[in-house]
Amino acid sequence: MADNGGARKPLMSGNWKMNHNHLQAIQVVQKLATRLNDKTYDVVDVSVHPPFTGLRSLQTLIEADKLPIALGAQNCHWEESGAYTGEVSPQMLAKLNVVYVVVGHSERRQHLGETDEMVNKKVKAVLAAGMTPIMCVGESMEERQEGDAQDKVQGQVRAGLEGVSDEQVGGMVIAYEPIWAIGTGETATADDAQEMCEAIRVLVADTSSDDAAEALRIQYGGSVKPDNTAELMDQPDIDGALVGGGSLDPDDFAKIVQFQASSD
Ligand code: PGA
Repeated sequence: MADNGGARKPLMSGNWKMNHNHLQAIQVVQKLATRLNDKTYDVVDVSVHPPFTGLRSLQTLIEADKLPIALGAQNCHWEESGAYTGEVSPQMLAKLNVVYVVVGHSERRQHLGETDEMVNKKVKAVLAAGMTPIMCVGESMEERQEGDAQDKVQGQVRAGLEGVSDEQVGGMVIAYEPIWAIGTGETATADDAQEMCEAIRVLVADTSSDDAAEALRIQYGGSVKPDNTAELMDQPDIDGALVGGGSLDPDDFAKIVQFQASSD
């Protein structure tokens, strides 16, 4: 699809997974904040996604220091409250001023049995609580080798967005994360990543609306590092990155967030 001339502000998200306790979380965000400046926040949005135990501490830090860093979560349940031992509801996250919630990460789909139907319920619940879902999709190496990557991803997008209004889709984030590129050091080529992100946008134009497709932000994720970010972000349909390992160290993540500085 045509370049939108920069109308979609890139969203650079640090998905810490099960790393950094709440004290480490504070240190990492403090360091990150000293490495970013107003110019950075003018051109990109930044979010950090600590484990649940770090959310309250980071909320306090972000609000006390008025940091333009958005708080993100890595998951939630779809119900508001109830007998769901070990779960956290969207409303509980919203109360902590969480802005973005990762939904349907491949690690949860693979290891914790999260289905497309559950992902769809979570997307709707996150939206209903006034937050923005970052809905993850992506194919395995086997599916790519068999030529099934497009079908797999398109199926996940269709199922995940089922029953979500066009306007809501336009405000969402979809993260394309090929499973074989996550945590492996193997990144999709910028061309392959662009091809899939474009296909996602074309599909959304079809299932939702042209306006929703134009507004939707599509992140790439999978071994994003300081030295490969600029090329990926240069692609017309890639509007940010969901960064795992590369976001744990504030120096690295600051370089990733400031990819435009290295491409100028
Ligand atoms: P990675 O993880 O950057 O460590 O590959 C990305 C993700 O799973 O979100």
